[in-house]
Amino acid sequence: MDNYINDYKMSLEHPETFWLKRSKHIAWFEEPSQGLTKEENGLYRWFKGGKMNTSFLCLDYHVQTGRGNQKALIYDSPVTGKKASYTFRELLIEVEKMAGALKSLGLQKGDTAIIYMPMIPQAAIAMLACARLGVIHSVVFGGFAAHELAIRIDDAQPKVLLTASGGIEPSRKISYQPIITHALEEASHKIEHILLYKRPEFSEAISDSRFQDWESLVEQAEPVGYEILDATDPLYILYTSGTTGQPKGIVRDNGGHAVALKYSMKAVYDVDPGDVYWAASDVGWVVGHSYIVYGPLIHGCTSIMFEGKPIKTPDPGTFWRILSEYDVKTFFTAPTAFRAIKKEDPEGIYKNKYPTPKLKYLFLAGERCDVATLQWAEGVLNVPVIDHWWQTESGWAMLTNPAGYELMPIKQGSAGKAVPGFDLRILGEDGTELGPGEEGAVVLKYPLPPSCLPTLWKNDERFISSYLSKFPGFYLAGDGGYKDEDGYVFITGRIDDVINVAGHRLSTAEMEEVVASHEAVAECAVIGVNDQLKGQLPVGFVVLKEGVGKSEDQLQGELVQMVRDTVGAIACFKRVAKVDRLPKTRSGKILRKTMRAIADGKTYKMPSTIEEPLVLDEIKDIMLKGNIGTPIA
Ligand code: COA
Ligand code: AMP
Repeated sequence: MDNYINDYKMSLEHPETFWLKRSKHIAWFEEPSQGLTKEENGLYRWFKGGKMNTSFLCLDYHVQTGRGNQKALIYDSPVTGKKASYTFRELLIEVEKMAGALKSLGLQKGDTAIIYMPMIPQAAIAMLACARLGVIHSVVFGGFAAHELAIRIDDAQPKVLLTASGGIEPSRKISYQPIITHALEEASHKIEHILLYKRPEFSEAISDSRFQDWESLVEQAEPVGYEILDATDPLYILYTSGTTGQPKGIVRDNGGHAVALKYSMKAVYDVDPGDVYWAASDVGWVVGHSYIVYGPLIHGCTSIMFEGKPIKTPDPGTFWRILSEYDVKTFFTAPTAFRAIKKEDPEGIYKNKYPTPKLKYLFLAGERCDVATLQWAEGVLNVPVIDHWWQTESGWAMLTNPAGYELMPIKQGSAGKAVPGFDLRILGEDGTELGPGEEGAVVLKYPLPPSCLPTLWKNDERFISSYLSKFPGFYLAGDGGYKDEDGYVFITGRIDDVINVAGHRLSTAEMEEVVASHEAVAECAVIGVNDQLKGQLPVGFVVLKEGVGKSEDQLQGELVQMVRDTVGAIACFKRVAKVDRLPKTRSGKILRKTMRAIADGKTYKMPSTIEEPLVLDEIKDIMLKGNIGTPIA
């Protein structure tokens, strides 16, 4: 690789030259003649004019260039006791047939499909089959409940929903049919086809004639080739939590995505074609899209699809077993996973059973990584542990210690330096750029590099108002942080109402909507508070209507169940505190930020606009008594 400093400088000074050079590393059917194009609406697209197909890059290209017999995907499922693998050639055959099945249903380029699947190979096959046809997929994480699925169905307007019998958690099986049936009742959009992949672990038959058997359809289908797509055709939509109850549909273009991921596999993760790469995440999250499916396959790596948890499937040695058994070179997961392992096996004894001589790096992302966890991981694995920062919106790392160049000294607590392409600044409230050590809003100069969202699905206006309006000329990441004098960035947390629970991005506004809909609740605030295991956990503060005779426990039980049924168990909403009043500004705005600061034990300024300062003392008292919020190292 070239030198990081030179490349970084070049990427900011001559972005088009920099990225057109990198674009040559993927196989285009027609190379793009230009890098960035400004559209009439003032937004930008990368590689207009380029013709390509992401599924071709992931599969056909490797078969054609001699990698057909190499393993492309390894499935390891401690929750079912199953293991399987697919070579690039075998995966291509599966994807061709699956694409044929979708085509037989009338799906074509530009249609949308929702994929609501557990971590089984069919999820990746479905994604790649959609990509083959130019059908825009939207994967919905299997831990989301019916309402979340319904919102996404209404926004994405899919022609088909691809699903399976259910997901398997260490303690229970979750059948998807009732969840989908409920979501279909709630959604206004009517889906034409629902394909259900039957898992042998689930005995129930298909209960509803709207569900069609996946395997029978695939068996009858003719394999199909790939469509020639424009670089600017969307590959997928992935919904992510914003600051309202309505998730944002992040759009990912085919061309920029492929170019950035190909570059990142070497520059960020230092892997070469043929290496084994493992991202322990879920295809429902952006990490799963970029680094379980697309990135490793585009680069010709072997990727691992793991259906299990870091602990209890069956023990805290599972991750080490996988690293050892499959000779993983670069491993990527969320800090929470390590906190969970450390809690169960503080001395890292399970690691002794599994030598990992091939492992070169551990990358962490998804949430802030506390130094204690990073040091523990380093001690157990004996490799550099690299914290790196990114978002669904970018699709790849914006801050890292780029291992493919030359590893820079690791500063614990920092997510590294800006990745080539990202002009990252820290701005104060008034938009002035802050100096070293000064904490402010993390922003990126607009236009953004390839792979970053060109817009929100069918909603340019929301894209502009959410990301581009606060500081003109800059993309607002939604995180706070500061840079040190060497350019290392420290991310300090979200500056909005998005929270991070076990590396999962969730909106407190969505939870508030559910809590507020309870008949006994007059008003409420849901905030994220620090948690030793999951980073953050949501806590609800509720003011009850006059004359409600429910005990706090009873009310908590009902509200917890409502959030589980509506948002999903993944929200981990388990605590509710009854309060007499909520702290508000004179104009009636709830002071959530101040409540968060109190819970996290941070100093805060008494807001000048506060209506009744004493309410803050009441809230503080309730938090103290209820043991709400534990400062994290
Ligand atoms: N489908 C259905 N339910 C799901 C689910 C899925 N795909 N994933 C999680 N859930 C449920 C769990 O069963 C649990 O339900 P419960 O409240 O009835 O027990 C709830 O959602 C919370 O799940 P989880 O966060 O996985 O908590 P846990 O206590 O079971 O496990 C950890 C704790 C730390 C092991 C787990 O959070 C973990 O593996 N974290 C790492 C996450 C990660 O890799 N993120 C990557 C993003 S880059
Ligand atoms: P998601 O879009 O689900 O990937 O979540 C993105 C958010 O997770 C970011 O905006 C951050 O708040 C948080 N995040 C991701 N990586 C890191 C990191 N390395 N350090 C701190 N926060 C992170």
